[in-house]
Order: sequence, then structure tokens, then C-alpha cells
Amino acid sequence: MHLSDDYADLSRQAAAAFADVARAKPDATVILATGNTPIGMYDELTRLVHAGTVDLSRLRVFQLDEYVGIAPDDRRALYGWMDRAALAPWGVPAEQVVRLPSRSDDFPAAIAAYEAAIAAAGGIDLCILGLGPNGHIGFNEPPADRDAPTRLIDLTPESIASNAPYWGGIDQVPTKAITAGMRVLLASRRIFLLVSGGAKRAILHEALHGPVTSQVPASYLQSAAGVEVFADRAAAGA
Ligand code: PGA
Repeated sequence: MHLSDDYADLSRQAAAAFADVARAKPDATVILATGNTPIGMYDELTRLVHAGTVDLSRLRVFQLDEYVGIAPDDRRALYGWMDRAALAPWGVPAEQVVRLPSRSDDFPAAIAAYEAAIAAAGGIDLCILGLGPNGHIGFNEPPADRDAPTRLIDLTPESIASNAPYWGGIDQVPTKAITAGMRVLLASRRIFLLVSGGAKRAILHEALHGPVTSQVPASYLQSAAGVEVFADRAAAGA
């Protein structure tokens, strides 16, 4: 565990580790989580890009998850969030990004294309994840098995409630999402799980030290290779 004093420290430590990956392999394949937690790391990486100490413009980026049913250019779409937080400031061109669609006439084909693109790219070098209050990673809501594929899911009431402030009310939150599957995430060569704040303390403890169970999808990280947890003292309880 990379233990940090606070969120700013966590963001710096995770950004330094991310930048090392990109320096070693500038065209690394990465999955970039949205949510609040990784934003500090993305901002710190943008600072490093501006300082000229790392180039992130050659990364090949795969979207982690997306709400279903909204317009692709809705600024609340997770793609828009990822674009503002990372792709645009880092200068990653759209051709290097594989999206998960919010709308499709043929979701099975879109899902097959997403998984095929990852396979064609040689798998994922680095997967950035946050931790849901219910133990989800991506939108792999519990229960989710370790081999769950990329798929459409119904958001749990807990996830809908936790996203309500962002959508301007609980009845505004989409009820469905599309998520990279557990098997995609767990097969990544490296995984950074970023967790901050006392509200995540109990679920982080369960994920790392509780039983490995589909009821806490993040618990499968216990048996995955290449996992590094970045947590601040409030989340780690240390
Ligand atoms: P957060 O979201 O980083 O905004 O806490 C994490 C998640 O729900 O996956």
C-alpha cells in the first residue's frame, strides 16, 4: 500500500507512479477512471506535462464506464469528464481513445468491438480505478464475478444516490450504465486503486482484507497481479 498523509499527497504519489509508466512506454494502454478520486492525480499529471517532464499524448486510452441513454456529448457523460480531466489537457487525440457508447443500436456489437480493441492492443498496461461506496470497480455493481464481461448493468440504488449531486437530483441520474468487465480490469498488467477519505475506510478494509466475494467486486483485487493501492490515512485508517 502506498500510504499518503492526505489527498494532495496521494495525488502526487499516484501521478509520479503513473508518469513512470508513461516514460517507460509512451504509448501504454490505459484505462482511466472518472469519479472524484483520480482528479487530483490527473491534475498533477497535467502539471508534469506542462513542466515538460512527461509526455502523455501518445497514450492509448480505453474508457472504463459510461451512463447509458444520455447524449454522447452530454457534459455529464463520463467521456466528457475524462476528456476535460485528462485527454484534452494531455493532448491525447480522439483516434487514440476507445469509448464505451452511451447510446447504440447494437450494444452487443459495441461491447464486442471494445473487448476486441483491447485484445488487439495487447491488453491493458495500466488500469486506474476508484472504489465505489458499495465496493464496485468501474460500474461492476455487486454482485459481480471475477470473470464478468463488459456489459450493460442496472445501477444500484446506492450508486444512484451517490451520483445524485452530480446530476442535480436523484430522479435525474440514469439507471443503466455500461462498464468494462471485471475480467478486463483484473487482466490489466498493473492496477492502481485510488482511495481517499474516511467515508471509504470500511469498504476499503473489506475489499483488501474481507472475504473475496462477488458482493464486494473490489475484493477480487486481492487475487489479481500488479495491484497497487494508493490510500490516504483517512481511508486506510492509519
Ligand atoms: P469517487 O467514485 O472517486 O467519486 O468516490 C468512486 C466510484 O464510485 O467508483
